[in-house]
Amino acid sequence: MLSEQERREIEAHARHYPNNRAVCIEALKIVQQHRGWVSNEGIADVAEALQMKPAELESVATFYNMIFRKQVGKHVILLCDSVSCWIMGYERLREHLGDRLGIRPGQTTADGRFTLLPNVCLGACDHAPVMMVDDMHYQDLDPPRIDEILASYRQEEKSSDGNAADS
Ligand code: FES
Repeated sequence: MLSEQERREIEAHARHYPNNRAVCIEALKIVQQHRGWVSNEGIADVAEALQMKPAELESVATFYNMIFRKQVGKHVILLCDSVSCWIMGYERLREHLGDRLGIRPGQTTADGRFTLLPNVCLGACDHAPVMMVDDMHYQDLDPPRIDEILASYRQEEKSSDGNAADS
C-alpha cells in the first residue's frame, strides 16, 4: 500500500496531468524516491492508486531506465556507454570504477554504498565521457577525477555518520 506521503505526492502531480496514465512515470519515481527502488509490490501499489494494470506499469518501468526494478545501493552511478563516451574512454573509466569499487557493471558494493550501471546517452556528448551519481552530472571525466568524485561521496557519508553519532 502507498504511504500517506507517497499518495499525497502522486496526487499533487496528478493535478497537472490529463489522466492517470500520463502521471505513471512520476508516480513510479515518487515510489522509488521513498523506497530506493520499485519492487513488484511498488508496481502493484502504483497500479492500484492509478487504476492501471500492473503489467502496463511493468512495461513502463522496464522501458524507462531511471526506474530501478532491482534493489540498488545508496548511490547509483550511471556511466554513459553511448558512442561519444565510448570513443572518449568509456572502457577505461568502467575498468577504473570497477577496480576502485570492487564491482562490475550491474553490481552493488558489499557495503551497499554504490551500484554501477551502464546507461545510454546522458545528453552531454560534447563533454564526454560522462556519468551521473544519483542526480548529479559529472563530465569530461578521467580516472583522477573519478577518484575525487568517489572520495567526495565517501567524505560526505563520513560527515553524515559523524553528525548522526553526535546527535
Ligand atoms: S554519448 Fe555519453 S553523454 Fe552522449
